[in-house]
Formats: sequence, structure tokens, C-alpha cells
Amino acid sequence: MSEKAILEIDGKKFEFPIIRGTENEVSIDIKSLRSATGGVITLDSGFKNTGSCKSAITFLNGEEGVLRYRGYAIEDLAENSNFLEVAYLIIFGNLPSKEQFVKFENDIKSESLLNEEIKNIIDGFPKVAHPMGMLSSLTSALTAFNPVTVDINSEKELYHAVVKILGKFPVLAAWAHSKNKGTPLNYSDNSLDYISNIMQMLFRIPTEKYRLNPITVEALDKLLILHEDHEQNCSTSTVRIVGSSEAGLFASISAGVSALWGRLHGGANQAVIEMLEQIEKDGGDVEKYILKAKDKNDSFRLMGFGHRVYKNFDPRARIIKSYADEVLKDLNINDPALKIAKHLEEVALKDEYFVSRKLYPNVDFYSGIIYRALGIPSEMFTVMFAIGRLPGWIAQWREMRLNHEPIGRPRQLYIGENLRKYTSINNR
Ligand code: ACO
Repeated sequence: MSEKAILEIDGKKFEFPIIRGTENEVSIDIKSLRSATGGVITLDSGFKNTGSCKSAITFLNGEEGVLRYRGYAIEDLAENSNFLEVAYLIIFGNLPSKEQFVKFENDIKSESLLNEEIKNIIDGFPKVAHPMGMLSSLTSALTAFNPVTVDINSEKELYHAVVKILGKFPVLAAWAHSKNKGTPLNYSDNSLDYISNIMQMLFRIPTEKYRLNPITVEALDKLLILHEDHEQNCSTSTVRIVGSSEAGLFASISAGVSALWGRLHGGANQAVIEMLEQIEKDGGDVEKYILKAKDKNDSFRLMGFGHRVYKNFDPRARIIKSYADEVLKDLNINDPALKIAKHLEEVALKDEYFVSRKLYPNVDFYSGIIYRALGIPSEMFTVMFAIGRLPGWIAQWREMRLNHEPIGRPRQLYIGENLRKYTSINNR
């Protein structure tokens, strides 16, 4: 027997089907709401209760702190897989065979060269430009150099666009970093794996031999796996909604980069390290900042704390916290920020304000400490997040297209003026 939800408006009853997901999540299908009721809509600011799509990519249970990509636990993937293999899994649905993986990796490598004219665009940015702004612009500019990727009509065309963006995006990210530093723009080295290549593009200088450190490569690989997808978050929803108008993949991803930049989303990783530095400069008084975060008259929020969906430990934060310990120990780094972060977490998790609101550390709370240990400057933290999130954006865009989802176009409740008559400027 099919399940139904009943809605009563002005004494009239309307029935809507209940749809359950594979993990028994329950949704009310309100597709027919407007037509059945004569124009009634739902109002859900921030989409706190609204499912925008059906998706088979990522499962997240915020109450229990569970995160799975295509059915695999995040802990299992972070422990045993690598970034590119997980990217394949997320985008295409299954772990690749050896042959599929080699082809995927080689296809990406063969797309890692950028058009030299892109350097003219980089030249046009001021040296102080934020790398996220540059990355978003450059990703959008890629469309101009690859116009065939806009009108995608087959899986083959889609595959080409996917390997192109996976090949070129980290080069753009590294070039944005070089622009800030004033160092030469490094090319991709296709003899290296994806993550080692990112490291050499970020850090190699032509006057010295660059030696990869396996500890930093492994740490970055794991960090980026943890960032690969997170279902319908702000940037991913942006990518899907932009793509739903049939804008191209690169244009949609450029919009996703902009959405990620904000401090309440991916920009929080930079904000966390700046907050920890501020607390340290201020004498390390953690309690003072906890009080500020609780004060409703103070705009300060504990960055890296709280999450729209997790009302329990963010499983990614748990993994990253233990990596932070490991990586700093292996690299012999004593970062006071880690001590302050742990102290903040300890105090917050015992505080009634944070406990009652179920505010726990999120993915951004400890990630900056690892990035910093790898030599990545704070303004690049959100760029690293974007490199990590790229496969998720691609997978969600692809799913949206394959499911032939309609253009995303929410409704609104109008609360403005009723009809007014125009008066000429002389009579106002
Ligand atoms: N510090 C202090 N108070 C907080 C915090 C925080 N970090 N986060 C939430 N709260 C409080 C709110 O003031 C609110 O209190 P109230 O009920 O008394 O009004 C309550 O907790 C609920 O918070 P909302 O803002 O309504 O929750 P929402 O789901 O809209 O926001 C968000 C989630 C944006 C992540 C929020 O927790 C926040 O601003 N955190 C800090 C920024 C951050 O770390 N962002 C990264 C998130 S992870 C990611 O996007 C990759």
C-alpha cells in the first residue's frame, strides 16, 4: 500500500505521496501541490527542509555522523583508496578496474596543458587578488578555450569535458598561487600521480631540485578524499542549479567555486586558522572567545563549528583531527594552533550553549592546521578544498543532466507593495 501525507488547507484535504530513499529516509512529494491547491507553495528559507533532487551519490546521516560515497564509508575510503580512484567512484558510480583507472588517469594527464593565452588573463589580475576569485574567473574562462564542452549531448562528450576539467583545474589553482607569490608558473609533470603533481606545481621553483615528501603527499591525498562530495551543500546546489539552465560544465563549476568561497561554507577553513592565530596573539584566552561566540550581540562565531546537517561529530573532522596529530608529529612541527584548537573543542563540547545546539567541529576545524603544515598559505586553503570538491561537483552535474532534471527555479512569497500608480518625478 502506498504511503501518503495529508495536508489540510481551509478545511480541504490534499494527499501527497511519500517517497522513501534506500536508507529509509522519508520525503513528501509535493510536485502537484500548486496545481492541486490552486497556487499554494511551501516556504523554507535556506532550504532547511527541502530536498532539491533524488541522488545516488552521497549518503549522509547528520544525526549519527555517517558519510558514505556510493555506499562506501568515508573512513574506509580515506584509509584504503586514493583521490583519483574515489573521484572515479563518485562520478561513474563504481570503483574502477585497473584498466579503467589507468585510462582515466592517462586521459586526465593528457588534458593537463593549458592554452598559453591563459597567462594573459593571469597577468591582468592584481598580485593581491584572492586565489579563489582568480580560480573562479579562470575556470569560467576555460569555456572560451574549450567551447565544445558547453553543449554536451552524449556520455562521450561528457567524459571528455570531465577529464579536461580534472586535468586543467589544479593547474589553474597552482597558477593562482604563483601569481600571489610572484613565482614562475609551473606546468604539470605527467610522470607523477595526481596529488604529487599538485604539490610540485604549487611548490617547485626552477632554481632548485624539488623533492616530494611522501608524508605530505599522503596527507593531502587523504584530506582531499574527505572533501570530494557532500551531497546538496551550498556550492553543489549552485553547480546543479546553474547546470540546470544548460549552462556548460565549466561555467557551472566556476559558480560552485564562488559559492564555496564564503566564510559560512568552504571559506571557513581560512577563517578558522585566522581565528586561531587571533586567539594566540591575544594570549591564548580560549574562554574569552567561547563567551564571544555565545554572545548574541557579538557577530563573532566559532569558525569551524556547527553544520547545517551534522548534529553530531562531522566524521570528516574526526579523521582530520587524528591526521593533524600524525602529520605534525611526522613532520616534526609544533604548531600552537593545534593546541588552541583542541582546547577550544574541549571547552565548547562541555558548554551548554554548544551542547544544546548540537554544535560540533566540522571538516574545516582542523584541516587548515594540516594545510599549514604542508606549507600551504591560508589564502589557498579554500582553493585546496575546491580541488578536493571538484569530483563531487562533476558527479552531481552529470547526475542532474542524466536524470533530465528541470531547470531549477524556486518560487517566492511576495511581501512587497500592492499595485501602485506611477507618479511623475515632479509630483513626488
Ligand atoms: N558559533 C556560535 N554559534 C553558532 C555557530 C557557531 N559556529 N553555529 C551555529 N550557531 C548557533 C546560531 O547562532 C543559532 O543559535 P540560536 O538558535 O540561538 O539562534 C544556532 O546555533 C543554529 O545555527 P544556524 O546558523 O541557524 O544554523 P545553520 O544550519 O543555518 O548554519 C553554519 C550552519 C552556517 C555552518 C553555522 O553553524 C556556522 O556559521 N558555522 C561557522 C562557519 C563554518 O564553520 N562553516 C563551515 C561549515 S562546513 C562547510 O560548509 C564545508
